[in-house]
Amino acid sequence: MSNADAPRSTGGDTFRQDLFKGKVLFCTGGRSGICYQIVQTMMSLGVDAAIVGRDAKGLAESAQALEKATGQRCIPASADVRDPKQLEQAVKQTIDKFGRIDFVICGAAGNFLAPISSLSPNAFKTVIDIDLLGTYNTIKATIPHIRDAKGSYVHISATLHYRGLPYQAHVSAAKAGVDALSNVLAVEEGPRGVRSNVIAPGPIGGTEGMSRLTPKGWKPENDIPLGRMGATSDIANAAVFLFSPAASFMTGTVTVVDGGEHHIRQMS
Ligand code: HXC
Repeated sequence: MSNADAPRSTGGDTFRQDLFKGKVLFCTGGRSGICYQIVQTMMSLGVDAAIVGRDAKGLAESAQALEKATGQRCIPASADVRDPKQLEQAVKQTIDKFGRIDFVICGAAGNFLAPISSLSPNAFKTVIDIDLLGTYNTIKATIPHIRDAKGSYVHISATLHYRGLPYQAHVSAAKAGVDALSNVLAVEEGPRGVRSNVIAPGPIGGTEGMSRLTPKGWKPENDIPLGRMGATSDIANAAVFLFSPAASFMTGTVTVVDGGEHHIRQMS
């Protein structure tokens, strides 16, 4: 029996249309994939957004597409999350345009498959720098504005570090660090009304991660208890909930959105 056809929300259709009206989202990694879908869903619920990444041309195209799809405002803010100065500039651009930042998504990530024995020190450091240091840099650059807004963070992590997934030492170490960073942020900033939570996506269809990182011939319906690959809208819906007042007593949490996949011992 398959659960693949069970009813599901396709993103944004479950929530009040003006949920985020007057709020501003700052999202690293928002040009494509999971984070693009989160931004689009939140914009369809009233948020204005800045999307941040290295590819200036791609960002501009994505920002334009997001505005067209939602009727909200979106600016492309070109920055490499490894560089604190570039991030500060992206934050300034956002404040100059919108005057505030309420929500931050730390979503910029880099990954490739490589056994630890042949992973060069620079290859390991590169992924740590993008995923973990990039998250720290994003927090540092945005925290004054998030304090002002009593806003909140969602960090995009993973489930691969819950076990020893081969060829993923660099990203597993980085994502474990992201989870830890979020917990400390939640504890330090909670008294100021700032929340910090993590979403850990499982296998999500149509993303660069899935197309480059999963074994050929892998059948998600066999290995995911809910019987299907995740969709970017599954992650977007979780982010909307975590940013919404419905989650106002939630901080320092990890929300796993993987159809139950990480409970299975090994991919077949
Ligand atoms: C081994 C590799 C490698 C590979 C790069 N390196 N690719 N080593 N196998 N396939 C090494 C290089 O040789 C170099 O080390 C070091 O990494 C830095 O490489 P650069 O190309 O100079 O880095 P950079 O241009 O900054 O690019 C970063 C990148 C790249 C991570 C390597 O792939 C990238 O920009 N990716 C962004 C998009 C992305 O990956 N998205 C997917 C995210 S999916 P040496 O020693 O030679 O100098 C995701 C999901 C997680 O995060 C969960 C999945 C299940």
